[in-house]
Amino acid sequence: MKSKKNLVFLGMMGSGKSSIGSIISKKLNIEFIDIDNEIETELGMKISKIFEEKGEKYFRNIEEEITLKILKNKRKVISLGGGTFLNKKICKEIVENHISFWLNWEIKTLLNRIKNSHKRPIAFKSTKNELIKLINDRSIIYSKAHYKINCEGLSKNEVVNNILNIYEAN
Ligand code: S3P
Repeated sequence: MKSKKNLVFLGMMGSGKSSIGSIISKKLNIEFIDIDNEIETELGMKISKIFEEKGEKYFRNIEEEITLKILKNKRKVISLGGGTFLNKKICKEIVENHISFWLNWEIKTLLNRIKNSHKRPIAFKSTKNELIKLINDRSIIYSKAHYKINCEGLSKNEVVNNILNIYEAN
């Protein structure tokens, strides 16, 4: 492994960004940073509470600030929140300077994973049709990631190995 770039995991809520990111970081012995956790620690509040008390716009501003700061690191494994990559500045920075992986799943799998998730305000307040539209709309942006990992039907180990193979080749 030669690259000094950060490895960035992105994709919808429920796509396994934190779980896969954390496994990859252990395999590569590289520090893992989860943007949602960083935001919660910085504000001393759970994401659901931030949305409820301060609103989404406030959350998105903090998300931008913290993510751009974290991306100044070198050679870390970073998991974004589901909406982070939609921010144009963050998207540009990642596409130009880092290695990014989009964890892609079928819509029905994502819906099953996120429906009624109390800790995910966007999923909780949306109808099924709204979520389907969100997934389709976001997929256009997610596709700017350097690598699209089709996770459907694969074990966690297979997903991890696919990512490691790509990383080693970089
Ligand atoms: C969001 C996804 C969440 C979290 C926040 C907003 C989104 O992260 O950042 O609730 O807009 O998709 P996860 O993708 O880790 O659930």
